Amino acid sequence: MAHFLTPRLGVNIDHIATLRQLRGTAYPDLLSAAQIVENSGGEQITVHLREDRRHIQDADVKLLRKELKIPLNLEMAATDEMVRIACQVKPNWSCLVPEKRQELTTEGGLDLKKNFKNLKKAIPWLQKAGVRVSLFVEPSLEAVRLSHELGADAVELHTGRFCKSTSAFELKRIREASLEAKKLGLHAHAGHGLDYENIRFLSSLHLVEEYNIGHSIVCRAVLVGLERAVREMISSMLSP
Ligand code: PXP
Repeated sequence: MAHFLTPRLGVNIDHIATLRQLRGTAYPDLLSAAQIVENSGGEQITVHLREDRRHIQDADVKLLRKELKIPLNLEMAATDEMVRIACQVKPNWSCLVPEKRQELTTEGGLDLKKNFKNLKKAIPWLQKAGVRVSLFVEPSLEAVRLSHELGADAVELHTGRFCKSTSAFELKRIREASLEAKKLGLHAHAGHGLDYENIRFLSSLHLVEEYNIGHSIVCRAVLVGLERAVREMISSMLSP
C-alpha cells in the first residue's frame, strides 16, 4: 500500500497584526488568534518580523514563543539584528527570506549565490542556539543543492510562480525540487500565494511536509466571521 505523507499546516498570522497596526489598537489580539489556530488543527504559527516592523512586533514574537503549545516559525532576513533576536527568543524554526522595504510581500526566493557568505555565517549561529533553519528559495534544483551545501535543515519552496499560473510546468518544478530536497535529507516546506483551490494541486504531489499559508486564510476568516461580528455589535447596541 502506498504511504502518503500528511502535510502540516503552518498559519501565517502577519495580517492579523496588520489590522492591529493600521489603527494602533490593542485588537485584534494576536495571541488569541494564534490560540484559535492552535485549537483548530493548525500545527505551527508563522510570523515575519520585518525590519520595518510593519506588522509583527518584537513583543509579539516573545509572547508567542512563551505561550504557544505548537511550534513557532520566525520568518526573517538574515541580518545581524534578526539573527540576534532569533538566538534570544529561540523560535523552533527560522525561515530566512529576502527582504526589500518597498515590497508588498516577499517577492521571490533568496539569491543564495549572492548571499552565500552571509548565510554561511548566519545558519550555524542560529543552529547553535537550537533554532532549525529553512531557506525560502525558488523551486529549482540548484537552489535546493546550494541550501544543502549551506547546511540548512529545510527548504521552503516559493510557490508564487506556481500560484499565478497553476501550470503543469511550475508544478513539475516544485515536484522535482521537493524530490531533490528529500534525496539530500532536507525537509521540504512550501508557501506563498496558496489558497483553497491551488493547494489541492500541490498536496496531490504528496511530497511537501509543511505549508505556510497566511493571506488567503486571513481573508477567508473575515468573510466567515463577519456575520457573527455584525450580530455581536447589534447586540451591544441594543443592550446599553
Ligand atoms: N512563506 C513565506 C516564507 C512567506 O514570506 C510568506 C509571506 O509572508 C508566506 C509563506 C505566506 O504567504 P501568503 O500570505 O501568500 O499565504
